[in-house]
Amino acid sequence: MPLWGGRFSQSLDQQAWQLNASIQFDCRLAALDVRGSQAWAGALGQAGVLTPAESVQIIAGLETIQNEFGEQRFAFEESDEDIHTAVERRLGELIGPLAGKLHTGRSRNDQVATDIRLWLLETAPVLEESLRGLQAVLLKRAENDFGVIMPGYTHLQRAQPILLSHWWLSHFWPLQRDSQRLGQLSARSSVMPLGAAALAGTSFPIDRSALAAKLGFNSTSANSLDAVSDRDFAAEFLFWTALTAVHLSKLAEEIVLFTSAEFHFFELDDAFATGSSLMPQKKNADVFELTRGKAGTLIGRLTGMLCMLKGLPSTYDKDLQEDKLAIFEAYDTLAAVLPVIAKALETVHIFPEIMTAAVTPDMMATDLADHLVSQGVPFREAHDLVGLAIKHAKKQGKILDSLELAEYQHISPFFGPEIYQVLKAENSLIRHNISGGTAPEAVKKQIEIARQALSV
Ligand code: ARG
Repeated sequence: MPLWGGRFSQSLDQQAWQLNASIQFDCRLAALDVRGSQAWAGALGQAGVLTPAESVQIIAGLETIQNEFGEQRFAFEESDEDIHTAVERRLGELIGPLAGKLHTGRSRNDQVATDIRLWLLETAPVLEESLRGLQAVLLKRAENDFGVIMPGYTHLQRAQPILLSHWWLSHFWPLQRDSQRLGQLSARSSVMPLGAAALAGTSFPIDRSALAAKLGFNSTSANSLDAVSDRDFAAEFLFWTALTAVHLSKLAEEIVLFTSAEFHFFELDDAFATGSSLMPQKKNADVFELTRGKAGTLIGRLTGMLCMLKGLPSTYDKDLQEDKLAIFEAYDTLAAVLPVIAKALETVHIFPEIMTAAVTPDMMATDLADHLVSQGVPFREAHDLVGLAIKHAKKQGKILDSLELAEYQHISPFFGPEIYQVLKAENSLIRHNISGGTAPEAVKKQIEIARQALSV
């Protein structure tokens, strides 16, 4: 018998019951639901709605249920529609009719909104921890691989030389922003809906501020209609998971490229690569491909949530039950992905000679133009002159650093013998010594800033 059976003369169709039920997934909120109910029973006692003895007895009964969940002894029943009704049903078995007083002045509408906010506040730090674990690996790689030179790309074409450490850290900072965003959205989610009841606010004199403090919320909702329908926090969380996944996907895409035979900059440790059932020679970066693929799924979850919300009128509608499927799946996805990529990156082998050999002298063309600028040549003109040198070299089947000085000087007298130094990758790096740049000195400072950001 469901909690709301009184006015019905026929029981719900079995398949409709299945569709309506959420116990399959909201059982995950069990411990939080009990905690919320204990706080509510305490508040009802404070308000004089329950006698002190009744309040104590209900809280004790809920404690027994909490232990049953903790020890995985809680026996769910066919008739349990959702976690809230399952807990109340069990409380009745344990303490008798007094259990019926627990739901006084409360609705599952404010109850579930409270539970999922508590869930978010509880789980955000777990993701934060995994995120920081990955950041720590990226930082460690930047420290350990210091000095390795590789090509930097734009449009996936070789562009300018960079330090591998600079590349590692380019994936550190997006995660740093994700970490900050997670903290900010958790703080914004710390608003307690409990007391909003079904939609109009409870009619019992509950001290909501005291209840919020007891449950660890920063504040209480200001409008009961809004309180039971507000899922901004869930949408924000899904946006957060989607954006974090997009950052991971970019990193993953580069690992997939760099581990290909064409690049051969990196090789995954065997523990993090997979084979082919057909081609014995294959070593695939499945872990990173999945990371990239799951970003799509997470973006879909965000889109699904926004589409679900956009059609709703004010207050509670059953559509909102879908929120949990989305946030649980998004959480599980990132919780599974983050530690694996952290370990895979920690153990990835690098081939410094191959990376450095991929830095060709034409990648120092901009340095050559900048050098002419330092001789007083306007940049546009310098750009043209270097372009002419490249064209000339190509025609001769040469590259920039194999052209004779006479050939250069034929193009412009501003080219002097020092240009051969300018065309060296090490010197190019040194010249990019600006905060945030790829010069070794600048990257050392960046490592220091990253270390402080992580406080390690
Ligand atoms: N299982 C429901 C959910 O997850 C709980 C709230 C039900 N409220 C209601 N009025 N039927 O959203």
